[in-house]
Amino acid sequence: MSLTTPAARRDLSFHLHPATNLRTVQKEGPLVITRGEGVYVFDDEGRRYLEGMAGLWCASLGFSERRLADAAFRQMRELPFYHSFAGKVPAISTELAERLVKMAPAGMSRALFANSGSEANDTAIKLVWYINNALGRPQKKKIISRQRAYHGVTVATASLTGLAFAHTDFDLPIARILHTDCPYFYRGAQPGESEEAFAARLAGNLEQLILHEGPDTVAAFFAEPVMGAGGVITPPATYFDRVQPILKKYDILFVVDEVICGFGRTGNMFGSQTYNLQPDIMTLAKALSAGYLPISANLISSRLYEILLAQSDKLGIFGHGYTYSSHPVPAAVALETLRIYDEMDIVGAVRRVGPRMQAGIRSHAAHPLVGDARGVGLIGAIELVRDKSTRESFDPKAGVAAFLVRRAQHHGTILRNMPGDIIAFSPPLIINETEIDEMISCFGKALDDTWAMVREKGLV
Ligand SMILES: Cc1ncc(COP(=O)(O)O)c(C=O)c1O
Repeated sequence: MSLTTPAARRDLSFHLHPATNLRTVQKEGPLVITRGEGVYVFDDEGRRYLEGMAGLWCASLGFSERRLADAAFRQMRELPFYHSFAGKVPAISTELAERLVKMAPAGMSRALFANSGSEANDTAIKLVWYINNALGRPQKKKIISRQRAYHGVTVATASLTGLAFAHTDFDLPIARILHTDCPYFYRGAQPGESEEAFAARLAGNLEQLILHEGPDTVAAFFAEPVMGAGGVITPPATYFDRVQPILKKYDILFVVDEVICGFGRTGNMFGSQTYNLQPDIMTLAKALSAGYLPISANLISSRLYEILLAQSDKLGIFGHGYTYSSHPVPAAVALETLRIYDEMDIVGAVRRVGPRMQAGIRSHAAHPLVGDARGVGLIGAIELVRDKSTRESFDPKAGVAAFLVRRAQHHGTILRNMPGDIIAFSPPLIINETEIDEMISCFGKALDDTWAMVREKGLV
């Protein structure tokens, strides 16, 4: 159906829109997307947009990879559904599990599938609790996440998420979830503090939190290698080098959320490789299937798998799993996605074009509205400020970054703003240099429009 006017869109939009001001979308109507081609999507009036966010950080291969459609079609005809309960399994899912375990950083031993990043992180919480019960330490259950983290929106994962919008009026977070500092150098560092000193201070605070709570009550630490929805926050130098020994010292499991960083985004296959992380559990989603079908996975270490095995001896069953865990169709699409990554050398591709995007983002650093420009690989952000020298933010009600994103859309590029007037860039990994230049140039036009707006309204 083509909704040709905003009024028609408004009347015909029966969606309840996630992560949206419901009143605004009711009044203005949604942007209705009808098709995709390469890094571009098209709306119902035929307008073309460069998708600077790969949708929701996921459409790594863009919007028209025929091989993924063919893989899904073939699998639909061969075996459209089967499950992995009660000792059965679709053949294609075993292939995918093997592939993931073999490509993951050393030490991973088994894959458990689900349908979304939230479900994978939710499963990770359950595994952590189950494992500590299996080890006879039922009091070791608290989980430490970080302020500004984004790990999903189920009851438990929204609790891990360290952003107010995920908690307010949802009666969250639940008990036993704690939040430590966000490694946000631009906003968190003290005047004159180096990245290393900042990282050391945060690691010290983490250790204090663990000691305060009692190490025998703390089960796991969850972290994204680069924090995505919290504002594209790259860890300051030595941060994870300092955090990991603390986790080991107190026997705290490390769950690495690779939902955004996995599959090339940071310039290595996994964010864990970019920052030298040794996860006990990894969660994967999004680019696992290039976003074409819902699928996520938990990879677990051999040590944890041995504990699960022993617990099965005791309980007789591992009582977890979803109807669509191991669904063969998304598994086939994920396998084909991984084949394409191999053939095109996805990591090499990101390393080739990533610097162009990072330079483009930083080329705006001198603009009076730009407080910080940061990123790694093909993920980046620009943070807008009212006053560059004091880093003073705009009043959130002024909606300055939201305005910029609307203007970027007007100029033909879809970007996303996050709390704190941060604008994210996370294009499909197949983007080329010309397209990167186009995205950055659209951003530049939108930045100029925003500068004009804030001056006109007396916001600066
Ligand atoms: C790092 C991270 N973890 C988990 C999630 C949740 O994934 P989903 O939306 O598929 O539930 C997201 C979603 O953006 C994410 O960015």
